[in-house]
Amino acid sequence: MQKYAVSDILQRKNKSPEVTLNGWVRTFRANRFIALNDGSTLSNIQCVVDFENTDEALLKRITTGAALEIKGDVVESKGKGQEVEVLVTALTVLGDSDPNTYPIQPKKHSFEFLRENAHLRTRTSTFSAIMRLRSTLSFAIHNYFNSNGFYYMHAPIITGSDAEGAGEMFRVTKLDAKTPPLHENGTVDYTKDFFGKETNLTVSGQLEAETYAMSLGKVYTFGPTFRAENSNTSRHLSEFWMVEPEVAFMDLPGNMDLAEDFLKYVLKYVLEHNKEDLEFLEQRLAAEEKNKPQAERSPMPLIDKINFVIENNFKRVSYTEAIDILRNCKPNKKKKFKYLIEDWGADLQSEHERFLVEKHFKCPVILFDYPADIKAFYMRLNDDGKTVRAMDILFPGIGEMVGGSQREERLDVLKAKMAALNIPEEELWWYLDLRKFGTAVHSGFGLGFERLVMFITGVTNIRDVIPFPRTPQNAAF
Ligand code: 4AD
Ligand code: MG
Repeated sequence: MQKYAVSDILQRKNKSPEVTLNGWVRTFRANRFIALNDGSTLSNIQCVVDFENTDEALLKRITTGAALEIKGDVVESKGKGQEVEVLVTALTVLGDSDPNTYPIQPKKHSFEFLRENAHLRTRTSTFSAIMRLRSTLSFAIHNYFNSNGFYYMHAPIITGSDAEGAGEMFRVTKLDAKTPPLHENGTVDYTKDFFGKETNLTVSGQLEAETYAMSLGKVYTFGPTFRAENSNTSRHLSEFWMVEPEVAFMDLPGNMDLAEDFLKYVLKYVLEHNKEDLEFLEQRLAAEEKNKPQAERSPMPLIDKINFVIENNFKRVSYTEAIDILRNCKPNKKKKFKYLIEDWGADLQSEHERFLVEKHFKCPVILFDYPADIKAFYMRLNDDGKTVRAMDILFPGIGEMVGGSQREERLDVLKAKMAALNIPEEELWWYLDLRKFGTAVHSGFGLGFERLVMFITGVTNIRDVIPFPRTPQNAAF
């Protein structure tokens, strides 16, 4: 008897009616009906036990969470709710599950409870749907770049440079925390450390990706990145995955076109390939929305929201225009914002980003040409001398989804910028080399992968879209 995944049987891909299948019991009803799930798809398959001819002791072991091997015949179902079912001819309990202690009961659990049981939460419909979508989305990302002439580049995870200049990094060291070797002046002597210098976990693969863009032309990285910022919000993780394309001979408008085309492609791909999971999450969200006050409800069902982004042009707005809108908007005038917008040069907070996207433009927005002072050192300075060719893409319900820029390709301008920010040239000599030998206009961006998973799944806490979230004071599992 051939082994099949539940998804194959439900799609009637089994060559003969006799099949073997494995899975975990979701529910066992009336000593007769097993709802079996193997993770291959959202749906369970109904397996019907001939209880009169089955040992009572065996029936008792068919409990929620138990792992089974079932042999049986696939038949048209007479019952409601499924087209086919399996009439069980042989059943083996591979792994028992004590119903008194198994945490995932067949009832609705809170996201908080499931976070504490993250090792088992993908046994629920909601989390298996979220993680299947996450998987499809990563595949879509690789697919997009692969079919558009990009090479996949693996940036190092341990680095000696601080790409974002924000200094919020996790140190990588083998030195003894209690008795590290010291210089005469009392500071730690990292020349004695494993790498002979200070190293940290990367905050972005961009600087390394730039070296590859300036040789392979079009590249992207897609890997874990780490930020030691102490922000305990629903949109920040200490370890998250970032997608970073980097393209030679491409300017900022080209970068915007790429980001928009890329986002629309991957959203469409997921809609086409994971309809069942999306529909399930949409219904779940709709049920949840009913309990919310009108003002907090999402204006659109999940799939409509995704389609809206696919079908509409992103609004492109300069930082200066955005500041004008924000300065004169109601929540600013009535002092409803926590951070009031007064002068040009203010950094935008998530409340401002969300106002622009959700209330003012009501569509994704690309903000560009930010003040140089609030952006990273590598962004290309505009002729006005005070703004840089930066872009952030803001999404409804999420805020900043993408951050990118055209890079400063002029050696003298880059050196001056680094000097002003006290970034030692010795540390980035290789980065400066790119500007010495065959420099060219180039651009790229970083997409927070989990934020995109949040948008697609409608999940509002970033901890629920990554398998084992790392956040301040939490690295369980
Ligand atoms: O805007 P960021 O900091 O940009 C960079 O790191 C650039 N080097 C990217 C590039 O141009 N190649 O980060 C990019 C994106 C943000 O827009 C956000 O979506 C996400 O990464 N992000 C986070 N996601 C989850 N948790 C965090 N702590 C994040 N910090 C940034
Ligand atoms: Mg940013």
